[in-house]
Amino acid sequence: MDGNGRWAEQRGLSRLEGHIEGCKATRSVVKACVGLGVQVLSLYAFSAENWGRASDEVNGLMHLIEDALCEELDDLIGADIRFLASGRCCELPESLQRMLVGAEKRTADEDGMVLNLLINYGGRAEIVDATRALAYRVQAGEIAPEDITEQLLRECLYAPGLPDPDLLLRPGGEMRVSNFLLWEIAYAEIVVMPVLWPDFDGGHLIEAIVEYNARQRRFGGVPGVE
Ligand code: FPP
Repeated sequence: MDGNGRWAEQRGLSRLEGHIEGCKATRSVVKACVGLGVQVLSLYAFSAENWGRASDEVNGLMHLIEDALCEELDDLIGADIRFLASGRCCELPESLQRMLVGAEKRTADEDGMVLNLLINYGGRAEIVDATRALAYRVQAGEIAPEDITEQLLRECLYAPGLPDPDLLLRPGGEMRVSNFLLWEIAYAEIVVMPVLWPDFDGGHLIEAIVEYNARQRRFGGVPGVE
């Protein structure tokens, strides 16, 4: 959800006001995804690197995410959305942790779209955490080092039950991955759009999906060769 800061700067507003506006865009994009039958939407809300920002921006973001979840929870349930939080959540403020756990519990039986919120998330940290989990299992004698496969490591990532993303959609125009779902996006199609996140809407989402649909996915193979 990139570009909130630039959107605010262009209008002489604070970065936090950009995030507040970004939150409104998030609401409309979640609705659009449900309407389009998207199965999983992963949103990058706060990266493990974002702690380096000014403390009022960081604190403001924490409150904003907590308030947004509190306000939207009934609507998430009403739309059959299952909520998940991915990241090192134990390092977040306690009230936010409680909110995240509560939202996961209250939506656990919903069988519509999954909304996976990446918060205090880093792709490298996720791989380190999975590696540690496997190392402990080796140390405990549960598995041997030779038992470690791509599939086993995948099962130790934060959201093992979710499929790998088909489409990585980056608003804000930056041509980089920024530590987002590094393992999971190995074969994702990347669409970068210049539109800043607060301006992003369902029409932009459809534009990205049209571009995705025009791609030929080969997963390292050659078309027509079995
Ligand atoms: C990146 O823009 C955006 C963020 C770090 C925060 C995004 C979070 C939200 C919109 C809140 C969503 C909340 C819920 C509960 C779904 P940036 O600040 O890096 O923008 P810039 O590149 O223009 O500086």
